[in-house]
Amino acid sequence: MSEGNTSNQVEDLKYRALQELESASDAEQLEAWRVAYLGRRGELTQVLRSLGSLPADERRAAGAPANAVRSALEQGLEDRELQIKRAAAENGTAGEAIDVTLPGWPTPRGGLHPTTRIVRDICNAFTSMGFSVVEGPEVEWDTYNFEKLNIPKGHPARDMWATLWVDHTDEDGEHPMLMRTHTSPMQARIMEKTDPPVRVVVPGRCYRYEATDPTHEWHFYQVEGLAVDRGITMADLKGTLYEFARRIFGVDRKVRFRCDYFPFVEPGVDMSIDCFLCDGKGCRVCADTGWIEIMGAGMVHPKVLEGVGYDPNIYTGFAFGMGPERIALLKYGIEDIRLFYANDLRFLRQFA
Ligand code: DAH
Repeated sequence: MSEGNTSNQVEDLKYRALQELESASDAEQLEAWRVAYLGRRGELTQVLRSLGSLPADERRAAGAPANAVRSALEQGLEDRELQIKRAAAENGTAGEAIDVTLPGWPTPRGGLHPTTRIVRDICNAFTSMGFSVVEGPEVEWDTYNFEKLNIPKGHPARDMWATLWVDHTDEDGEHPMLMRTHTSPMQARIMEKTDPPVRVVVPGRCYRYEATDPTHEWHFYQVEGLAVDRGITMADLKGTLYEFARRIFGVDRKVRFRCDYFPFVEPGVDMSIDCFLCDGKGCRVCADTGWIEIMGAGMVHPKVLEGVGYDPNIYTGFAFGMGPERIALLKYGIEDIRLFYANDLRFLRQFA
């Protein structure tokens, strides 16, 4: 008997045995099936025994598939036994209608979406430093999304946010509505409602009129942050964001701030961390620069403070905004942002 033949033979046997098992419908038939295949003189037992007469190397090669078939048959028998018992319980033919000793149907266990996880991690990093979490509307007035953030109509900075307009305006027709392009409008909403000090983070969905590619989605999340009080300086901004970077990316991280432009802050910065993959030496993830940009930030523009009725001679503050999906892409080595919302369980289960 060659090894190839043995494995064909056991595969055939498995197929035939499992098919027969399907038609066994009571304890007696199950026992007859067990004896026929797994009993002392059962068919599979004979095959397993015959392996003993093969030369050592062939025996090893044929043994594994034969043993796998034995496990499959044993498992099949157990499953079929349960099925029959359950069916009997459900039909009331097992004496008592419900056999409480039967194991229940397993409940499938869900998990958190990777975006939910990273948003929670980010918010936790800030709440542990004294920030509160608030949320705001996804459909927003032009006034909040742009004007109160020092981006008047016709200002070229509006081009930085590709906008999805909603076919609706207020009664005088002057204030168009849109799907918010960032979470920054909540800065004004919060300050209008609260007196300083303010310390909040705002997670939420944003929308842009955007062609999608591995790093762009038309719908994504942002986490905005705002801290306003007497005497807040750039040093507070740096210290807070440095601590945040260490909590999310590890205590060894360094940070770098460079000048950047956002109409609602002055000065504005972008913050980078040194690449956690290559420790700043240069690799594919950091495009050989050693640094990875993770958010925009800056000192709240005096015009924004004035617009909500805060006196910029008394109060100062800092603001920041980041994309949690981008943070997750970096942290988990995900290569395409579109995976987050394609709802493919093979992707999502990796984070459950
Ligand atoms: N809202 C900005 C964007 O969508 C991100 C941002 C930059 C928010 C700087 C801020 C900030 O609060 O200070 O690109």
